[in-house]
Amino acid sequence: MYSLQLLLALGCLFGCRLVTAQVDAHCNSVEEPPTVKYMIYPVNGMNQTQNSKNEDFIKSIIGQDTVLDSYTSESEGLLWWFTYMNAGQACLLMKNKTEILLADEIDKYPDGELDRLPRVAPRAPEFTSQNKAVAELVVLSQPKTVPDYTKLQNYVYNVNAGQGTYIYIVEEGIDVETDDLDSKVNQYIFSKTKQKSGNQDDSEDGHTTCVASKAAGKNFGVAKKAELVSVKTSISDPRDISSIFDQILSDVQKKKRQGKAVINLSWGVAPPSNGVVPQHWLIAARHLRKLMNEEDVIVVGSAGNHRQYPGRENIDRYPKIFAADDFPIINVGNTLANGNANKYSQIGPKLHVWAVGTDITCASAKRKDPNKPWSPDRKNYGTSFAAPQVAGLLAYFLSLDTVPFSTKHGTLALNARNFMRDRASYQRGGPGGIANVAWNLVTEDQNKPTS
Ligand SMILES: *[C@@H]1O[C@H](CO)[C@@H](O)[C@H](O)[C@H]1NC(C)=O
Ligand SMILES: *[C@@H]1O[C@H](CO)[C@@H](O)[C@H](O)[C@H]1NC(C)=O
Ligand SMILES: *[C@@H]1O[C@H](CO)[C@@H](O)[C@H](O)[C@H]1NC(C)=O
Repeated sequence: MYSLQLLLALGCLFGCRLVTAQVDAHCNSVEEPPTVKYMIYPVNGMNQTQNSKNEDFIKSIIGQDTVLDSYTSESEGLLWWFTYMNAGQACLLMKNKTEILLADEIDKYPDGELDRLPRVAPRAPEFTSQNKAVAELVVLSQPKTVPDYTKLQNYVYNVNAGQGTYIYIVEEGIDVETDDLDSKVNQYIFSKTKQKSGNQDDSEDGHTTCVASKAAGKNFGVAKKAELVSVKTSISDPRDISSIFDQILSDVQKKKRQGKAVINLSWGVAPPSNGVVPQHWLIAARHLRKLMNEEDVIVVGSAGNHRQYPGRENIDRYPKIFAADDFPIINVGNTLANGNANKYSQIGPKLHVWAVGTDITCASAKRKDPNKPWSPDRKNYGTSFAAPQVAGLLAYFLSLDTVPFSTKHGTLALNARNFMRDRASYQRGGPGGIANVAWNLVTEDQNKPTS
């Protein structure tokens, strides 16, 4: 049991409103409408008796007409309720019900062996070539012995090309009305807040569609035969953050995609200034950890583009800052095609590998701006577009007849990270270059300079 004091302290560490609102010892507040959004976390979501008691209690405080949403995980039980309250109601809830952890007001945050499909019998690796490919793809198959990428024009890759693997694009929806992604997206997962939002790309300027095409697009993508899963979510809403990775977890388990799935996260959220990890990120981190360490799913994230901001040289956002051996997310930085680091790309000990993310070409979202003529491709820059290439490259490695790193259950994600960092990348950018740029292991025998 938590004492009242502890609950209040926790609530306030997470930035509770109770301290600032005019609430007396009996929770009498100035009459105000219940307009503040709250996440309410049960202490033990598996106890259904307790859950329904708690729910009745919440209803008795908020009334029957107020929204009360919740999310129940298939493996962990009830994870949260969401509702609107005023300060007096929040106070009553905390005071009366010590089994509920009233964590937060929602707008507070700134920003064994695997059960795999049988693999085809080993055969000699067969390579294919995309001629006159975009520079970032050329650089991925740049042999170590050809230091100047401009001597190459082709993207050379194993014909498996990600076949039988799945890349979950966790963002704001993918526009498939572009040739590059035609028939690439066969599954849609919607977060709690995006249930009714439709399939289209809602991201600013078609960011998500661009990302998706870098991972697996036919022309612009790395893993040309991987399937994309559009995981449409709101990246700043605690309801989605604390449930979306659980939804992916259930999907991977149901479809038995262990060892065949890669998640791309091309966004991040800045930690609150008090440095205390909020409850919904603790939950998200727990699910991500399960995905990586128990379900053998690889998670790739972008390093972030804020190096030029004071104090933000190093990777500093959730979930990338959780990176560690027991949280083996792979963080990707952005270089120019010549291998020099982009000056905006964040660095530091939590950065693992780089890929070309400057002046990249990708698919545009067709209907994004009806007033502008649509062009089937566009230029862009940012770690957002480097990360999906590494996600694609890992899907590619997973599809090879012999996966080039250990896929031992429980260690696959960590091995993938170490392999990317230490083997499937090498330093470019000439003497003094810092960037170990991602590489698909292709050698000069397979990819001869053309000029
Ligand atoms: C579930 O909660 C009830 C109280 O509502 C409690 O009496 C019971 O012991 C709990 N069960 C478990 C398994 O914790
Ligand atoms: C518990 O809530 C009820 C209203 O639902 C209120 O009348 C009562 O005073 C509260 N108890 C405490 C200890 O705050
Ligand atoms: C992949 O992750 C990067 C970095 O987090 C992001 O910028 C990009 O949009 C993501 N791509 C997809 C397809 O979600």
